[in-house]
Amino acid sequence: MNENQSRFQAHEAATEAFRSVHGTAPQGVWSAPGRVNLIGEHTDYNDGFVLPFALPHRIAAAASPREDQVLRVATLGSDGRIQQADPIDITSLRPGTVDGWAAYPAGVAWVLRDHGLDRGADLVLAGDVPTGAGLSSSHALECAVSLALLGLDGQELDQPGTPERMKIARWVQRAENDFVGAPTGLLDQTASLCCTASNVLFLDVRSGETEQVPFDTAAVGLRIVVIDTRTKHSHSESGYGERRRGTERAADLLGIKALRDVAMADLDATLGRLPAELVPLVRHVVTENQRVLDVVGLLHAGRLEDIGPFLDASHVSMRDDYRISTVELDTAVEAAKAAGALGARMTGGGFGGSAIALVPESKIGDVEAGVTAAYEAEGWRPPRTFVAVPSAGAGRDA
Ligand code: GLA
Repeated sequence: MNENQSRFQAHEAATEAFRSVHGTAPQGVWSAPGRVNLIGEHTDYNDGFVLPFALPHRIAAAASPREDQVLRVATLGSDGRIQQADPIDITSLRPGTVDGWAAYPAGVAWVLRDHGLDRGADLVLAGDVPTGAGLSSSHALECAVSLALLGLDGQELDQPGTPERMKIARWVQRAENDFVGAPTGLLDQTASLCCTASNVLFLDVRSGETEQVPFDTAAVGLRIVVIDTRTKHSHSESGYGERRRGTERAADLLGIKALRDVAMADLDATLGRLPAELVPLVRHVVTENQRVLDVVGLLHAGRLEDIGPFLDASHVSMRDDYRISTVELDTAVEAAKAAGALGARMTGGGFGGSAIALVPESKIGDVEAGVTAAYEAEGWRPPRTFVAVPSAGAGRDA
């Protein structure tokens, strides 16, 4: 599937679903993509570096304004059925007042209300970002909804990567942290709002500075294959929060603002000042930040084909130090490499979800077959695999 196909389908599906719910055409359609992170995991909430790209898969929000302050949201399920949430009164929104999937659009409306935007809207959502796969479907939804509500208000933010977009990314993060209640960082929203086609996005989370770094895998005969393990472990949320608190405690003990402030050259001495249980967490974050910088350096030098060992080292660090990998992710990574991948790692928060592999074009079939066979041998259901092309960030479609 290519980017234009997906964008067209999400937009068409949302428009058609809007017509069937409301009997009219929407005033506009906005959409936002899911993401994979090439490298730089669990570094975002440590003020560090990340390097994601946008997937071709998108969620579209077809929208029209209302005269009142009510948000009516419906979503088109993969079974073709439309599910409508209870009407949401924007004026009385508070954290805890909406749960389930509707908390995501409600959280966005709650944040926008604080910025003076409280007009109601009819929204119908449709898309193809795999859910529960660690590919940021919830952030794609939140970003599409925020652009739709701002767009209905006449505020079009059409340039990915602008300071305006970074501001919206921080608003969406607030919706996620304070309304939905997930303690996530800035990676996913920024990827969805600021990525551009053919590039990876180098984000310095502390400064909010972004750089589009060319990532044309096809030009060097390579591809990124995404392997969705189709597993999610029950401790994913508590495990994420625990890791985050551990790194924040380490920063406190070291008397620094965030682990970003530990230089690679000082790593050993720094680890010696920490209690044993925090050592592997800090080692992961500091070395992972360095790996992002190294990969960006290689990409700038036109050496994309040399990044494989950094992907491998990142995976080992997450498996052994940060301890957020799973047997399904490890199996996917090992099988992909055995079948010819130049490097592979889990991507996203961990505890299930997806892995990515850097694969020579001629080996894509072997890698997909190798991973599937490894899963079969374990008696697991087959993973879902696809080739991911760095695609456009969020924007208006119609
Ligand atoms: C999840 C979070 C992100 C980031 C990653 C790990 O995707 O939403 O903020 O912390 O995990 O890199």
